[in-house]
Amino acid sequence: MITTVQQHLLDMQQRIPGARGTFSWLLSGITLATKMTEAKIRRAGLSDLIGAAGATNVQGEVQQKLDVYANQALLHCLGVRDSVAMLVSEENEEPVTFDRSPDAGEYVIVFDPLDGSSNIDVNVNVGTIFSIYRRAGARDTSHPAHVLQRGCCQVAAGYVVYGPSTILVYTTGQGVFGFTLDPAIGAYVLSHDNIRMPERGSIYSVNEANSDDFPRRYQTYLARLRSGDLGRKYTSRYVGSLVADFHRTVLKGGVFLYPPTKGYPQGKLRLLYEANPLAFIAEQAQGLAVDGTKRILDIEPHDIHQRTPFIIGSREEVEVFMNSP
Ligand code: AHG
Ligand code: MN
Ligand code: MN
Repeated sequence: MITTVQQHLLDMQQRIPGARGTFSWLLSGITLATKMTEAKIRRAGLSDLIGAAGATNVQGEVQQKLDVYANQALLHCLGVRDSVAMLVSEENEEPVTFDRSPDAGEYVIVFDPLDGSSNIDVNVNVGTIFSIYRRAGARDTSHPAHVLQRGCCQVAAGYVVYGPSTILVYTTGQGVFGFTLDPAIGAYVLSHDNIRMPERGSIYSVNEANSDDFPRRYQTYLARLRSGDLGRKYTSRYVGSLVADFHRTVLKGGVFLYPPTKGYPQGKLRLLYEANPLAFIAEQAQGLAVDGTKRILDIEPHDIHQRTPFIIGSREEVEVFMNSP
């Protein structure tokens, strides 16, 4: 008997305080947009969707055509859902707000529509990352306070990794669940029930090319992993798509790091739509996620595109880092 993500969420919904049918309707907007994106990715080389879109985004990064497509798909599929008050996207400088009736517009959604987009042209895994909050406070839906909430306020978070298969992983705070897209029926079907990250692993994941830039603490930590000081031999894996590197870490354990560098003194990864959603999932899977000094989920955001140093993975590896001088 199969369990689709819609069925799974309806079961979960009974346990989310105050969540009503609107929540599963909301998630269906996200899953629809990811299926539209997946269909484009599968055929990118056959349509005119490879390569740069000719513009740069608020991050100053060259937008890939699929970045733009994935972003439009999410803005459209979520914009037509009455329960959405505001959307924040990596690809939009400002939040996108919707005028809703007083009793609608209870949720705010934050997303990285296409993660790892530099890998599209070489057919390497890319992903979509999302995070759902309840609108905080005032009715005025354009108020940034709605979205500048700490990660521990997330109602749900998830990602889709477009790879040999397309897998959706999400949490609502009741554990972590994975669903594989079955192309034969066009539905995400439960394939990874109650994912638990191994207590420790034997893989570390970092862009070694930046090593000389890392603060001393990170260099010492990585040397300890390589030296066998933690009692086991580590190997290195780095895909360059956060969602792919994280998905491997959730399933196999170990640690992923994006430390501060000269180019990115606050780290490259964005708090709201990369670090927070994955940190929520990591903690729900019994792992940890920190910025070097505190939990990612405790960071008070001040800007929707702010970056953060990011260390995420198995409890043991992250604790060893946090206890390092
Ligand atoms: P995005 O494509 O959404 O901008 O994200 C790219 C990020 C992330 O996916 C990955 O972990 C990181 O960039 C890789 O950065 P480096 O190439 O500097 O290692
Ligand atoms: Mn990204
Ligand atoms: Mn992106």
